[in-house]
Amino acid sequence: MIKKIAAYIEKLWTASIRRQLILGIVAVHAVLMTIFVFDLVHRQQTFLHDQGVAQTQSLAESLAANSTSWVLANDVLGLEEVVLSQTKYPGLKFAMIISPLGRVLAHNDLSVVGKYLQDENSKTLIDAGHNIRILQQSKDIIDIAAPVIANGQHIGWARVGISRDDVTQNLQIATRDGFLYTSGAIAVGVLFAVFMARGMTRSLKHMVEVANELQQDGKNSRIEVNRADELGTLGTAFNALADVVDKREDELRHHRDHLEELVDERTRYMLKEMGERKSAEEKVKMILNSAVDGIITADPHGTITSFNRAAEQIFGYSVIEVTGKNLSILMPEQHSSVHDNIMAEYLKTGEKKVIGVGGREFQAKRKDGSIFPMELAISELKNETTHLFTGIVRDITERKEAEQKIQDTMEALQTTQAELVQAEKMASLGGLVAGIAHEINTPIGVGVTATSHLKEQAFNLEKTFNDGTMRKSDFKSFIETATQSTTIISANLDRASDLIKSFKQVAVDQSSQEARSFNLLGYIDEVLFSLRPRIKQTKQKIEVSGDRDLIVESFPGPISQIVTNLIMNSLIHAYDADDEGCIRIHATGNGELVHLTYSDDGKGMDEETVNKIFDPFFTTKRGSGGSGLGMHILFNQITLTLGGTVKCQSTPGEGTTFELTFPALKEA
Ligand SMILES: Nc1ncnc2c1ncn2[C@@H]1O[C@H](COP(=O)(O)OP(=O)(O)OP(=O)(O)O)[C@@H](O)[C@H]1O
Ligand SMILES: [Mg+2]
Repeated sequence: MIKKIAAYIEKLWTASIRRQLILGIVAVHAVLMTIFVFDLVHRQQTFLHDQGVAQTQSLAESLAANSTSWVLANDVLGLEEVVLSQTKYPGLKFAMIISPLGRVLAHNDLSVVGKYLQDENSKTLIDAGHNIRILQQSKDIIDIAAPVIANGQHIGWARVGISRDDVTQNLQIATRDGFLYTSGAIAVGVLFAVFMARGMTRSLKHMVEVANELQQDGKNSRIEVNRADELGTLGTAFNALADVVDKREDELRHHRDHLEELVDERTRYMLKEMGERKSAEEKVKMILNSAVDGIITADPHGTITSFNRAAEQIFGYSVIEVTGKNLSILMPEQHSSVHDNIMAEYLKTGEKKVIGVGGREFQAKRKDGSIFPMELAISELKNETTHLFTGIVRDITERKEAEQKIQDTMEALQTTQAELVQAEKMASLGGLVAGIAHEINTPIGVGVTATSHLKEQAFNLEKTFNDGTMRKSDFKSFIETATQSTTIISANLDRASDLIKSFKQVAVDQSSQEARSFNLLGYIDEVLFSLRPRIKQTKQKIEVSGDRDLIVESFPGPISQIVTNLIMNSLIHAYDADDEGCIRIHATGNGELVHLTYSDDGKGMDEETVNKIFDPFFTTKRGSGGSGLGMHILFNQITLTLGGTVKCQSTPGEGTTFELTFPALKEA
C-alpha cells in the first residue's frame, strides 16, 4: 500500500518539470512561509505578552506606590481616587487595592469594595510574601499583584488586570496577514514557476522535437539557442553533439559505403574466384576426359580413385565400376598377383622400378578379359594432404601392330634394297662397260685403222714385191707408213692399256686392301717424291703442312691414289703450260678423324663441273687424254675404302679446294 502510494507520488512528481516546479515552489513557500508566519506571530505574541506583563507590572507597582500612604491612612476615598485614576489606562479591566487578607480596599468597580476576594488566584495572595506576583497571564488577561509596602511592612496588594483582547486581535490580524502573504507568495511563486517552467519546458520541448526530428526524419535540424542559462548551454552542447553525431554519421556513412564497396568487391572477387576454381576444376576434368591417354589415379593401397574417359574406353569399364576397386582388376593374372607386393616394396624402400621411371610396356586386361599391350607411366604425388599415384595408360595394340608392319615392311624393303643394289650394280656395271667400250673404242679404233692401213700397205708392197715391180721408193714409203702406223698403234694400245688399268682400279675390290699404321704427311711426301718427274715439267710449287706427327691407321694405297689424282688433275686442268701456281696440302687429325685439305690456285671450275666432278666418265678433256674416271675413283676410295667424305669447292679463276675427312683409325 505504502509502496503503491510512493509509486503514485513518484509518478505524479516526475510527470512533468512544470508540475515539479509548481509543486516544489508551493511546498517550499507553504512550509517556509507558514514557519515564518508562525514564528513571527509567536514572537509578536511573546513580545506583546512580555510588554503587556511589563506594563501591567509597572502599572501595578505605580498603583502600589501611589496607594501606600492611603493604605496606611486607611483612607478609602483616597484609595478610590487613586484606583479610578487608573481606569483611563487602555485595556484596563480592573484595578484594585486589597488588604493582605484579601479584602477589597478600593476597586474601579465600587460594588466589590469591602468584600473579600474568594477566587483561587486571589486566595494565593494571602500569606504570599511581599514579592510582585503574576496571578494570571492568558490570552484574555494579565493579572498582576504588586505588594504595597510601608516601612518594610506588607500592608496590602495593588492588583491590576489588563485585557489582552486587542493583543489577541492584533495577533489574529498578523496571523491572517501572514497567511495572506503566504498565499500571495505561493501564488506568485506558482506563477513564476509556471513562467519559468514554460520557458524551460519550451526549450526542452524544442530540444525533444529537434532530437526526434534528428532521430526519425533524419533532418539536419538544430536547436535555436536564445537563452544564456544552463538550458542555452545545454542547447549549444546539444547542437555541438548533433554536429559531432552528424560528422560521425557522415563518417559512418562513408565507412559504410566504403565497407559496402569492399564487401561488393570481395564478393565479386570471391564469386570470380569460385567461378574460376569451379571452371578450373571443370577444366581439369575436361582435360582429363579429353586426354587421349587413359589417366588413372590410385591411393597407396592400389585402390582406384579416378578413371578418365579414355581409360574407360581402353579397359571397357565405367568409372563407377572401377572406383574403389584394386588396380589388379586391370591386370592379367601374372601381373595382378605381384602388383600388391611391388607396391608394398616401393612404399617401403622408395626404390623406383616402375613408378616414376617413364613409360614402360605391360600387358593389361580389359573388362571382357582380353589382354592387350599397353604403355604405362606411373608418377607419384605426395604432399601433406595427398598421396596418390597417377598412371598414364596408352593402348599400344595398334602401335605394336604398326611396329610389326614396319618390321615386315623393313624386311621387305631390305630385300628390295638388296635387289635394287644388285640391279643398280648391274646397271652401273652396264654403264661402266658401255663407258669402257666407248673409251676403249677410240684407241682400239685408231689402232685398227692404223693396222688395216699398215696391212693394206703391206699387202700392196707384197704385191709389187711378188710382181717384181717394187721400187726402192715403194719400200721406203712402206717403212715410213709402217713406222707411223706402229707408232700410232703402239700409242693407242698404250692408251687402251692405261684405260684398262683405270677400269681395273674402278673395279678394284676395296676389301682386299690392307690397313696399316703410318705417318700421314711422311707418306704424302713419298707420294709427291714419286711424282717428281711429272711435277718437274711444270712451274707449280707444292706445299705440304699440318700435323707432322699425325699417325693414322688406314689404307696407304688409296691415299696415294687420291693424292696422285688430285695433283695430276691440278697439273692437267688447273694450269696452262706456262702458268705458275701453288698447290697446298694440309693435314690435321683429332684422334678420331683426319682432315685433309687439298687446294690449288688454278683456273677453278664452274658450278656444273663441280656438281659432276665425281661422276664416272665426266671429263672436260675428252679426246685429249681425259677419261673422266680420276675423280670417280677418288670418290670411291675415300667413301668406300677409307669410310670418309669428300667435298669439292671451286670458283672459276680462283682455284679449287677439296676437303677430305676420313677415320684415323681403321677398325679391324
Ligand atoms: N684441279 C682442277 N682444276 C680444274 N678442273 C678440274 C680439276 N680437277 C678436275 N677438274 C675437272 O674435272 C673433270 C673430271 O676430272 P677427272 O679426274 O675425273 O677426269 P679427267 O682428269 O678429265 O680424266 P682422267 O683423270 O680420267 O684422266 C676434269 O675433266 C676437269 O674438267
Ligand atoms: Mg683426272
